[in-house]
Amino acid sequence: MRRSVAGRESGVALPLHICPMTRAHVRDVRAIDRLVYPRRWSTALYLAELRRGAERVYRVACHAARDGRATRVVGYGGFMIVADEGHITSVAVHPEFQGRRIGAQLMLELHREARRVDGLEALTLEVRASNAAAQRLYRWFGYAPVGTRKHYYRDGPTGREDALVMWCHDINGLGHAERLEGIAAALDLDSGVASGAAMQPQS
Ligand SMILES: CC(C)(COP(=O)(O)OP(=O)(O)OC[C@H]1O[C@@H](n2cnc3c(N)ncnc32)[C@H](O)[C@@H]1OP(=O)(O)O)[C@@H](O)C(=O)NCCC(=O)NCCS
Repeated sequence: MRRSVAGRESGVALPLHICPMTRAHVRDVRAIDRLVYPRRWSTALYLAELRRGAERVYRVACHAARDGRATRVVGYGGFMIVADEGHITSVAVHPEFQGRRIGAQLMLELHREARRVDGLEALTLEVRASNAAAQRLYRWFGYAPVGTRKHYYRDGPTGREDALVMWCHDINGLGHAERLEGIAAALDLDSGVASGAAMQPQS
């Protein structure tokens, strides 16, 4: 699917393509991790995640150059399915492209995919207590903080840092569908949240 993101500063639409993450994307994904996280997953760990098939959902956002020939991975995100919960493991956008609604589009895609997984009722994640931008993004999608994990992160420039645990419940409810429609409208996208197609497993 092809989508457009309105550039917040320039007002120029950024051509964006969101698709399942494959082995071929892992190098670019790890390059983003290197820029945004103090620690990153190994290539082997990513490949193991991708082999988990229907137990995992990972997506990449690719920016196509104007001539349509060169594409670049500008962000990614994903979750693991544990019983009736989806645990978001990461959402990250290349620093050069942050603030251009790519994170929001990835979250929208993940939530739509989560709604297509049979029996999945809720999504949850951990986020650094200091990461206000990410928390704003998650609240927009309906996540609420339920507690903290003390000193969960021990790798940052600030040393130990607490994680905020956030949950988004009842993702199949009408309220959440309406929320996603509102977000899609804000992102100037077709909503599509009512479609009930089966989840596409990772390749
Ligand atoms: C967090 C991250 C993924 C966000 O991605 P992004 O593409 O920069 O974010 P977006 O442009 O989609 O912005 C999300 C916006 O939704 C906004 N938003 C929240 N509620 C909104 C609403 N009701 N209406 C419109 N926008 C809203 C947020 O405010 C945020 O914008 P702001 O930071 O200017 O306030 C990105 O900054 C990143 O990769 N950070 C480093 C890695 C990281 O911390 N990942 C999260 C780990 S838990």
